Amino acid sequence: MYRTKTCGELRIENKGEKVTLAGWVQKARKLGGMTFIDLRDRYGITQLVVEADAPASLVETATSLGREFVIQAKGEVVERQSKNAKMPTGDIEIRLSEIIILNKAAIPPFTIEDETDGGEDIRAKYRYLDLRRNPLRKALELRHRIAHEVRNYLDSKGFLEIETPYLIKSTPEGARDFVVPSRMNPGQFYALPQSPQTFKQLLMVAGYDRYFQIVRCFRDEDLRADRQPEFTQIDCEMSFVEQEDVLDMFEGMMRTLFKNVLDVEIANPIPRMSWYDAMDRYGSDKPDIRFGMTIHEITGLVQGHGFGVFDSVPYVGAIAVEGMAGASRKETDALTEWVKRPQVGAKGLVYIKVNEDGSFKSSVDKFYTPEDLKAIAGAVEAKAGDLILVLCGEKRRTQTQLGVLRLEMAGRKGLRDPKVFAPLWIVDFPLLEWDDETQRFYAMHHPFTAPKPEHEAWFYSDKKEDLERVCANAYDFVLNGNELGGGSIRIHNADMQKRMFEVLGIGPEEAEYKFGFIINAFRYGAPPHGGLAFGFDRTVALFGGSETIRDYIAFPKNNQGRDVMIDSPSQIDQTQLDELQISLALK
Ligand code: AMO
Repeated sequence: MYRTKTCGELRIENKGEKVTLAGWVQKARKLGGMTFIDLRDRYGITQLVVEADAPASLVETATSLGREFVIQAKGEVVERQSKNAKMPTGDIEIRLSEIIILNKAAIPPFTIEDETDGGEDIRAKYRYLDLRRNPLRKALELRHRIAHEVRNYLDSKGFLEIETPYLIKSTPEGARDFVVPSRMNPGQFYALPQSPQTFKQLLMVAGYDRYFQIVRCFRDEDLRADRQPEFTQIDCEMSFVEQEDVLDMFEGMMRTLFKNVLDVEIANPIPRMSWYDAMDRYGSDKPDIRFGMTIHEITGLVQGHGFGVFDSVPYVGAIAVEGMAGASRKETDALTEWVKRPQVGAKGLVYIKVNEDGSFKSSVDKFYTPEDLKAIAGAVEAKAGDLILVLCGEKRRTQTQLGVLRLEMAGRKGLRDPKVFAPLWIVDFPLLEWDDETQRFYAMHHPFTAPKPEHEAWFYSDKKEDLERVCANAYDFVLNGNELGGGSIRIHNADMQKRMFEVLGIGPEEAEYKFGFIINAFRYGAPPHGGLAFGFDRTVALFGGSETIRDYIAFPKNNQGRDVMIDSPSQIDQTQLDELQISLALK
């Protein structure tokens, strides 16, 4: 037996026991004639001690130990002279009688401590060493725990976990596909699934009623802190359901996760907001509702006062930042520069200070009387001491910019506490988005999402304005300004699906080529069905108090989509290319 106990489990009650431990040397130090060794494994750290009067060979071995050596240590559990209340094993130490070096270790390129001295690149290259550190271990433990709770919950509700293939045909989630050449079918390619969307719908046609899968998805898109090219979804689908049934089921799942994993009670019921409200009031389809500072339209109040900038735009909106009326000229100038950055994209910023004494000071005093400014302050719900920030331009773009500004100001004011959880459902999305450049509609979710039953007439209308008004039977789960999940009630009849493709400008031949299998399946008795998928990495990260999913994935990719540890992607050799009958001609 390599060990009788782990490095995390011995307590004062074990005093006197003879034990064998195995693990990594966190550090070894000499003190007087004694050698102390911190031995680490996944479960914790236990202090080992080699007494000054121990046999010379034992002292010599103890002295020779380097960081991260793998050893087996035998000895007796004794009470410590100086106890360490911060360590679960801090009351005891092991008085050693034997050390066996199982493996030496090269000096690690960074310290394996909670606060390491290693930069991001070096840690990514040696991910297996980084994973030895507590914060990453805890992150993966949390990930496991949540997966376990998800499976328990869904199992208890009758969901079956069913795997779907990875080598498939393009799926319509709106990103680029990763493709895999087929040796047996030269010149043809599989696509890796952006999600199991079509398969889970086929499982409903097949009568499986409740499906789920904790499944890898692949999307070739620009990467950010909350996006990886391969990521994991909690993917679910249910038959004979309406939107209400789906929201109920997954509200229950989220409530259970929060309770069982974090011991947090979330809002009951989880609030719902229409997409239109979210855009108008928060400038985002994933509003952070941990704080107010909502957006107010003031177009009517500010136009017609001779201020050309406001008079020449369709929309003027504002937020009130609490307690910031004291901002200096330098600070408001810096904010103006901030909103002009390409990431925000505003042309300029107008401010109105609501002074503590009720007077106003603004960057547009020339055009507005104190009464005008007071009316604006009223509309924006600003109080004495607040700073009103105003942006203008095209409606949705300006709202989005105000949304970004709102998050920035909340961040500066410390209102985005990762320990506060404010979930909500966004509902009533537009079904379609018009794209001016390509002069066509795109599906806001994906082309299998059904229109709201009460909007079906518009869906079949040929008028652009009618199609623009159609709401989707779709919903997103949003947590603290992050889109955690999304789904919809699906189209389950072949005619409506055909109409959808027609609206999206996908001709019958293209539809047949890309989705013939599902259109065909719908002819054989498709039940009404719907579902959703949660981003599993994002869920775990937010539960862990972070928005960076990389820290919650064992072997993630960097922002260039590279795995720097295994050095991938990489070239393949000529024989592989020959077998695939592919010759490379890079442009
Ligand atoms: P959607 O495309 O909204 O829906 O994806 C569901 C959830 O997956 C997460 N997610 C990501 N996480 C990390 N990296 C990425 N690149 C990434 N892309 C998406 C998000 C998102 O909310 N088939 C539909 C679901 C359905 O309709 O049932 C789908 O995939 O948290």
